[in-house]
Amino acid sequence: MEGATLNNLLKEYAVQGLLTGSVLIVDDELPNLAVLGSFLDGDYTVHEAGSGEEALAIAKLTPIDVVVCDQRMPGMTGVELLHNLRESGIDATGIILTGYTDTPALIAAINDAHVFRFLRKPWQPEDVLTAVSAASNSVMYQRAARRLLELLSDRTTELQRTLTELKSAQQSLLQLDRLVTTGRLAAGITHDLRNAMSSLVMVEYEVTAKLADPELVETIAVGLAGLRNLLESLETMNQYAKQKRLAMTMEYFDPSRVVRDAITVMRMDLNFRARNLVIDAPRETLPLLLGDRQKLVQVLVNLLRNAAQATKVDDRIWVTAATDARGHVCFAVEDEGPGISPEVRDRLFEAFASTKNDQGVGMGLYMSRLIVENHEGDLQCTERVGGGARFAIAIPPAELES
Ligand SMILES: Nc1ncnc2c1ncn2[C@@H]1O[C@H](COP(=O)(O)OP(=O)(O)OP(=O)(O)O)[C@@H](O)[C@H]1O
Ligand SMILES: [Mg+2]
Repeated sequence: MEGATLNNLLKEYAVQGLLTGSVLIVDDELPNLAVLGSFLDGDYTVHEAGSGEEALAIAKLTPIDVVVCDQRMPGMTGVELLHNLRESGIDATGIILTGYTDTPALIAAINDAHVFRFLRKPWQPEDVLTAVSAASNSVMYQRAARRLLELLSDRTTELQRTLTELKSAQQSLLQLDRLVTTGRLAAGITHDLRNAMSSLVMVEYEVTAKLADPELVETIAVGLAGLRNLLESLETMNQYAKQKRLAMTMEYFDPSRVVRDAITVMRMDLNFRARNLVIDAPRETLPLLLGDRQKLVQVLVNLLRNAAQATKVDDRIWVTAATDARGHVCFAVEDEGPGISPEVRDRLFEAFASTKNDQGVGMGLYMSRLIVENHEGDLQCTERVGGGARFAIAIPPAELES
């Protein structure tokens, strides 16, 4: 790496304190130590050691840039000392003072022990100073490169995390955006529907008053129930999109009534009527619920409509209300359709997760879970024993609420 570029990088990333300015000199002959020390003292903080062992002990306690050591020492040679320093994770650069001519063994040691330079005895003071200064630079570059690499890898992790966060933020923004648009759309339809409904209510009143054909009265009543539910659903979506929370109209009610109301609504649906419906929702034995009854009817309608859409003529659909082991009221809707495909399973309760193209928005289960969770309950999807899908809602009864 070029010096200027490196310096710029170091400045930019505020990398400092790479050099300690400390040099460790090691020689078993004390007069040699004294002479060497006197040359280096002016420019460096000099530490002295009389043996390899002593040098190791010092280097483990004090940060050192350069080690200048005699090769021939009793106990541990210079090359061995540098090797041991490296093994101990000490990154100081080594200079070996040797009286021998360079033998192949010493040359091999250059690689092994990371000897920066050999100086032949007798050495000249300028040679030692030049070598120590070059060794200092070398260790600084090594430390700088390592530090920059660390910084880079930190930044990569940071970048990765930001990217993931950004992606999920973008995803929820997208969902919110679509939710708001859907909400606006819903508001428009709601308005038209309400007009249509008020004239229908008039017709119902007239027809009932004139004691018309009971079948006709029933058809109108069912039609009105369906419209009311549609209106409620649209209003729930619209209001949630605007305020990001559900407004609940609280009342005490019998859970079996939710099942009956949902079936009344679903009877408007020709598909649903062609299914084989099995109901098990006993009155009076179930604990009362406290919550928004109409919204829970919407939830069951969503589940029943999904079941009808997933099945064929004469297939069975089960709807039950019972008390579970915890004493919670458990509503379940099961069908003998194909079940939930693995690619849909993970996104089932996300907004706009529909596989139905023009036939579905993918809001049914999303809104359903929201409504159930607003009742402190949970909505789970499992495979039906024997094939098909099973959706179960568990809600704590009114009596158990704090
Ligand atoms: N009983 C079921 N059997 C098989 N797949 C189902 C069943 N219920 C839901 N799904 C799958 O889950 C998806 C999401 O359902 P959800 O009710 O949220 O949306 P949708 O029915 O597609 O549209 P809508 O907003 O009109 O309800 C469906 O598109 C379908 O693929
Ligand atoms: Mg649906």
